[in-house]
Amino acid sequence: MFTEQEKEALYKCIYMRRDVRTFLPDPVSEETIMKLLDAAHHGPSVGFMQPWNFILVSTDQVKERLAWAADKERRALAIHYEETRQDEFLSLKIEGIKQAPYTICVTCDPTRGGSHVLGRNSIPETDIMSVACAIQNMWLAACAEGLAMGWVSFYKKNDVRDILRIPPHIDPVALLSVGYTDHYPEKPILETANWEKRRGLNDLIFSETWGNSKS
Ligand SMILES: Cc1cc2nc3c(=O)[nH]c(=O)nc-3n(C[C@H](O)[C@H](O)[C@H](O)COP(=O)(O)O)c2cc1C
Repeated sequence: MFTEQEKEALYKCIYMRRDVRTFLPDPVSEETIMKLLDAAHHGPSVGFMQPWNFILVSTDQVKERLAWAADKERRALAIHYEETRQDEFLSLKIEGIKQAPYTICVTCDPTRGGSHVLGRNSIPETDIMSVACAIQNMWLAACAEGLAMGWVSFYKKNDVRDILRIPPHIDPVALLSVGYTDHYPEKPILETANWEKRRGLNDLIFSETWGNSKS
């Protein structure tokens, strides 16, 4: 079904994709944005409920308000860390909303498809999980298009609802900054900043029952 080259391209994209927070002001065409959204729209969703919407934000005025909401939350979260870790936390750049030409707010509508969406009765959060799958599709498509994307989740949902006039029953799942960058990281930024490192895969795999290591 896939040639070796096509398989390689897929894995290249998976390994290369990074969370990016530094963007160039270069414009991104609407055609390219539509390709990303179409990739998202082809993601899997529980009961095929497709609970997502996409709000495209490109004006400085709205981006500034979103950046304000993210910065307010970043400062509020700093209290969870002790002194040195707090300084480290505050020195991390956690968003590039104002720099990136586009911010896409991806939302989840838990009411879409009515009250009995196939498969959602057991695990209600499957609606949000579906939106996360759509976002990952979009992230990989952005990487393939040579674009950078950054996931911002530091905000109070009601701040984002107020700024983007989102109704109360709709969940703003993510703010995604999209643009070009001349700083595409090779490794996760948090790894380079010595905040966290990738765990060994073998330690995460169990055989037959929980805790029973594979080897
Ligand atoms: C659900 C979710 C929320 C995230 N929220 C933020 C965020 O608010 N700010 C940020 O800088 N990065 C955020 N990230 C990006 C992660 O920090 C990043 O994915 C992780 O450090 C691994 O790096 P990589 O994506 O480059 O592999 C988020 C990622 C996910 C999946």
